[in-house]
Parts: sequence; C-alpha cells; structure tokens
Amino acid sequence: MFIEKSKYIGFCSGVKIAVEKALSTLNEEKKLYSYGEIIHNKDVVNSLEKKGLIVINDILDYSDNNTKLLIRSHGVGKKEHLELVEKGINIIDATCVKVRKIHKIVEEYSNKGFNIIIVGDKKHPEVLGIIGWCNNKESDVIIIESQEDIEELKIDPVEKYCLVSQTTFNTNVFSKIVNTITKNNYTNIVINNTICDATKKRQDACVELALRSDVMLIVGGKNSSNTKKLYELSKKVCPNTFYIENYKEIPYKYIDKNTKVGVSAGASTPDWIIEEVIQMSENLNQTNDMNENQENQNGT
Ligand code: F3S
Repeated sequence: MFIEKSKYIGFCSGVKIAVEKALSTLNEEKKLYSYGEIIHNKDVVNSLEKKGLIVINDILDYSDNNTKLLIRSHGVGKKEHLELVEKGINIIDATCVKVRKIHKIVEEYSNKGFNIIIVGDKKHPEVLGIIGWCNNKESDVIIIESQEDIEELKIDPVEKYCLVSQTTFNTNVFSKIVNTITKNNYTNIVINNTICDATKKRQDACVELALRSDVMLIVGGKNSSNTKKLYELSKKVCPNTFYIENYKEIPYKYIDKNTKVGVSAGASTPDWIIEEVIQMSENLNQTNDMNENQENQNGT
C-alpha cells in the first residue's frame, strides 16, 4: 500500500488562530465561553471542553461576567456583535480576517443601496453572520446555493446587486454561477470572489491526488462544510472516496497491499487526527507484509 497526503491539508490559518486563542486563554484562565462550536470538529471541541471551554449557542446562556467569550472564525452578525459589546462582555474576537473582509463588503454595498447576493449554504453560521452585516431588509439579501438557483433568479435590470461567496464554497460551482451571470449579460451585478485561497488550494490538491489514488480518505467532522465539499469533489474522480471523522472509520476492506491511498482533510481537522489515520493505515500495511512473509515461510 502507498499512502500519500494531500499537499494542502488540515487547519487553515483562521482556524489555527481561533484554536490558539482558545488554548492560550484556557491555559491562563481555565474557563472560556465560545459562541457556537469553535470549529466543526467534535474531537477538537471535546478536548477543549475538557480544558474548560463552554460552548453556548444563545447569548442568554452567558452567565459569568468574569469569563471571556470567544467569537469563532465564522464570525457573527453586526447586531449580535453590538449586543455582546453593549452587555460589556469581554470578547476575544477570532473572526477570520477573510470573513471580516466579506462583512465589510456587504456592509458598504448595502449602505449604497445594492441588493446583496450571497453564494453559500443558507444555514451555515458564516453565511448567517454575513447576512447580519447587510444593512438592508432581509428580503434584499438573496442566497444562492447552486447554479440552478442563479438560473431561476429574476434579476431586475434597474436594481444594483453585489455578489459575495462563503469562504469555503465549491470553486467549480462558483465559476459556473459566474459564467451564468456573464452569459445572461447581468451587468448590474458586482462580483466579489471571496472564496478563501486556502479553500481553493485544498480543493485543487485534493482532486489532483484523488485522480491518482485508488482510495481517498477525507478526514474531518461530519458537520464541516469544507470537508464535505472535499468529499464531493474527490468522489467525482475517485469512486472509492470515504468521509471519515478519525482512524476508527478507516474502510479497511477497501485497502490491501496494492492500494494507493490518498489522504485529504478539511480546514478544521487537526494534524493529530490526520497523523493517526496515516499511522493506522501504515500499521495495516505492516500487518499485511508480516502476514505475507508468514505465508511465504509456511509455503516453503
Ligand atoms: Fe479563514 Fe479561509 Fe480558514 S476564510 S477560517 S482561512 S478557510
């Protein structure tokens, strides 16, 4: 078996900074609130909870004025942010700078009267946060989740639109959406490709590796949207692609000594989980070799 790790894999800079901020605060203060799960990886969240992290999903659950509250890399809407400040809560803002940039774009354009189009998953916390920075009525914020959505969209020629994307959106689908806009001559839409370059690099490297692998292991939390996208992209070119949360889910029956195994992982998957997967796959390799030697010896 030959195991190859994707060129771009694991924590992105935004997640790394958020986790480091949480860890350093917990080391000093032993307690920290996180507004929503700090990252979409339950193993990491569990280990931080053991160090004193308390995840809250509603600000009403914040009940200790002496404890800091961390805003995760996905960010929050303007109203929520102001509410936290007004309550005098000691905030550690770990909103990724690239997400913050999107907040600024939609705030500026919506102030100028543009309708905002967000390309992304309408239930994703990052998208909900972006909606919260649009200073217009919610009805003037349009969410596009797929190419079909943009084809069905009625663009008013007298209105102005500003389009942004969720940082972890699928780059291929985004290109198709932009092509549709160009094809339909919608000249009143300002397009901002706000997909994070970490996402693009990770997706391109994953597909490149999947093309030359027999089996692909995509490692990450099942609630991580960027890991899910890696899985979908890989599955298209490598049918034996498996979405696993950790080494316990390695699909051993698809792997033998001749299998080329590729490993990729989402931006919220820590190195130690990836290394465990590689280590366990290598152990299987060694066990196979030992069994083969044993069989050869028995045969002679
Ligand atoms: Fe930020 Fe990109 Fe990560 S937007 S949180 S560095 S995927």
